[in-house]
Amino acid sequence: MNSTPVMKINEFIVDDLSKSQILASRLATLLKTGDILTFEGNLGAGKTEFCRAIIHAVGYLEDVPSPTFNLVQVYEPDIVDADKPAIWHMDLYRLEKPEEIFELGIEEGFDTAITLIEWPDRMGRYLPQGSLEIKMVMGDAEGARKITFSGSEYWKKRLEGLVL
Ligand SMILES: Nc1ncnc2c1ncn2[C@@H]1O[C@H](COP(=O)(O)OP(=O)(O)O)[C@@H](O)[C@H]1O
Ligand SMILES: [Mg+2]
Repeated sequence: MNSTPVMKINEFIVDDLSKSQILASRLATLLKTGDILTFEGNLGAGKTEFCRAIIHAVGYLEDVPSPTFNLVQVYEPDIVDADKPAIWHMDLYRLEKPEEIFELGIEEGFDTAITLIEWPDRMGRYLPQGSLEIKMVMGDAEGARKITFSGSEYWKKRLEGLVL
C-alpha cells in the first residue's frame, strides 16, 4: 500500500444485478489479505449486493446480511480453509463520529483481512490510504449501474485482468 495519486482505473456499465455479481466475483479472484475496498454511492446503488457477491465468491456461502445496524460483519475461515482470507464487511452509514471506529476495533481488520467499507466518508481522517475506491451510480434504465474503479498505480496493475 502507498499514497501515490489516485486515478480512475476502469469503468463498467452493467445492465442488471447479475452483471454486477459477475464483475464482483471476478474482482474477488484478484483480492488478498490487506486489501481495502471502499464503496460510494447512494442508498440502493448496489454497494451491499456487490460486497455480498465478493464474499460469496471468496467462499463464504452463508447469508450475507447488510451490516446496517451492527456496522461490522466478520467472515473468517474454518481451520480447514486456512487459505481463504478473512473478510470484514462494514457499513458505516450510522457512525456518528469517526472516533467510534476505535470502539468497533475495525483497524484490526485492515492488516488481517480483506476489508469492504460502505460509506467510507464516515471515517473522516481515519480512512486508510491506498484503498481501491469503487463508486456505484444508478443508470437511466432500471437495473443499470455505472461502476467506477479508482486507485493508485498499484491498483491499476492489480486490476489489469479485470474484464466484464
Ligand atoms: N445492477 C445492479 N447492481 C446492484 N444492485 C442492483 C442492480 N440492479 C438492481 N439492483 C437492486 O438494487 C438494490 C441495491 O441494494 P443494496 O445493494 O442494498 O444498495 P446499497 O448497499 O448501495 O444501499 C437491490 O435491491 C438490488 O436487487
Ligand atoms: Mg448497503
